Amino acid sequence: MIVLKSPAEIALMRTANGIVAEVLQVLAERLCPGMTTLELDRMAEEAIRQRGAEPAFKGYQEYRYTLCTSVNSVVVHGLPDTSELAEGDIVSIDCGVRYQGWHGDHAWTFIVGDTTSPTARTLMRVTEEALLLGIDQMRIGQRLYDVSAAIQRHVEGHEFSIVRDYVGHGVGRALHEEPQVPNFGTPGTGPRLLAGMVLALEPMVNEGTAKVKLLPDGWTVVTADGKLSAHFEHSVAVTEQGPLILSKV
Ligand code: MF3
Ligand code: CO
Repeated sequence: MIVLKSPAEIALMRTANGIVAEVLQVLAERLCPGMTTLELDRMAEEAIRQRGAEPAFKGYQEYRYTLCTSVNSVVVHGLPDTSELAEGDIVSIDCGVRYQGWHGDHAWTFIVGDTTSPTARTLMRVTEEALLLGIDQMRIGQRLYDVSAAIQRHVEGHEFSIVRDYVGHGVGRALHEEPQVPNFGTPGTGPRLLAGMVLALEPMVNEGTAKVKLLPDGWTVVTADGKLSAHFEHSVAVTEQGPLILSKV
């Protein structure tokens, strides 16, 4: 069952997601070569608690961190650790919070330092554009897989590949709600979108093969060929006025 949210509930989710957006902004300002992802994790937890919210990933299926930090060939769910970020790395920082019982979930891929490879830049640009094209489909009367197909079409049109094994999701009182939101699909199919649906769209896009591997730590997902991956996520509400991106400052 897809739980619809009232305008008042969407306003609370806007606050929760706004907190995540602020936290990512703080981290982006501090991100630099030599910093560790565990340091980012500590900063994020502090920034979340300062804002009256709590980390949502910590404790979720025994996950132990505030963030998922996915560097270069890590697709998603990278574990913060003490290894240092280097100039030119790309890192997806994924952050979830709970605020007054409602969840915010938002991720962005950043460049460490000032320079990275042209391929990394293009991969990031195309993934962000695909997310925005998916969001633009989140209108009353459209079908869910219109969203999925818009993302897929843009990514594959640029010769990159869409990860199949992990998908976006509904978000609300629970971090993960129905429906699952694949980043690939057949347009004109799937449930009709209704006002009050809130979806976390999160395309994961690989430079090379779409195939991924799960590392023995049980969390870290990497590309099977060791090539780059990018990940951008917004939590978005379907409203009478069109799509409303909740995860913005
Ligand atoms: N945004 C990711 C997701 O929705 C992060 C989940 S991390 C977990 O799957 F630790 F909470 F599982
Ligand atoms: Co998510």
